[in-house]
Amino acid sequence: MTGPEPKQRRVGGASAPILAIERITKRYGTLTALEDVSLTVNRGEVVCLIGPSGSGKSTLLRCANALETLDGGRILFEGREVHASDPKSARAVRQRMGMVFQNFELFPHLTVLRNVAIGPATVLRLDRGAAERRARALLAKVGLSDKAAAHPAALSGGQQQRVAIARALAMEPALMLFDEPTSALDPETVGEVLSVMKALADEGMTMVVVTHEMDFARRVGDWVVVFDKGRVIEEGPPKQIFETTTVARTREFLSHLGWHGESTLDTAASSSSEAAQHPIDKEEVDR
Ligand SMILES: Nc1ncnc2c1ncn2[C@@H]1O[C@H](COP(=O)(O)OP(=O)(O)OP(=O)(O)O)[C@@H](O)[C@H]1O
Ligand SMILES: [Mg+2]
Repeated sequence: MTGPEPKQRRVGGASAPILAIERITKRYGTLTALEDVSLTVNRGEVVCLIGPSGSGKSTLLRCANALETLDGGRILFEGREVHASDPKSARAVRQRMGMVFQNFELFPHLTVLRNVAIGPATVLRLDRGAAERRARALLAKVGLSDKAAAHPAALSGGQQQRVAIARALAMEPALMLFDEPTSALDPETVGEVLSVMKALADEGMTMVVVTHEMDFARRVGDWVVVFDKGRVIEEGPPKQIFETTTVARTREFLSHLGWHGESTLDTAASSSSEAAQHPIDKEEVDR
């Protein structure tokens, strides 16, 4: 394998974590979606959550974003406890935490520009000119300046997802949550979204990313957390999870995804047609 080694330790551990999830439990009726889960996100880190379907990854993001009340434990965001049942607390949290979903959830009746500008205009009360200037700058950043006047339906899935990322960034969040942002996309547009996310990470954005893109987790993640049946079964730097794990369940999950300790991007790089389908090329991803 060529290129720099994946990360071996956390960044920013000296200061207080931006997000501290402390032994949370979340139940839906008799089903325990999360049990005694703890997780720390430091400023500037990219933390990737992986694990089988139904293991609680989305639930964890929803709890962090004050969309779910807890049945035990607590969550601290920027040092303050998150109270999902208190509208004021929930609003404050969501203003500082951007969330990007699998299915974009753009407003279909608004142009791309308005989709991005509407948060700053209505929530942050920027005047329309300022909100639209901010929106245009963000559309440029995600490579969609030429789509400002289009409606979402006229865009590819990858383009819509980049608009959704710009929309979340327009609120100038301190933390970005991504829930499988590429899993609803056609394969040919996955790379453009991952590239935008990689660029954000390089700028120092703090990110929690639920993903099935193991190359992304290995190369961009600073820390990887493995979920199974509502619990964290292992966490560590990518090198530990993807190369030296001794946890049988982690191995099983990775091999189920076709991961055998070697990046598929390394293979893709040697096959031009595959590499072309995956614009997040190896050089770009290495850091
Ligand atoms: N609103 C809900 N009501 C009832 N059960 C729920 C609800 N949301 C999630 N669950 C259940 O909680 C468990 C964890 O779900 P969650 O969506 O967090 O898993 P996940 O790891 O994100 O899975 P996937 O990879 O399929 O997205 C699952 O058993 C799911 O069916
Ligand atoms: Mg999910």
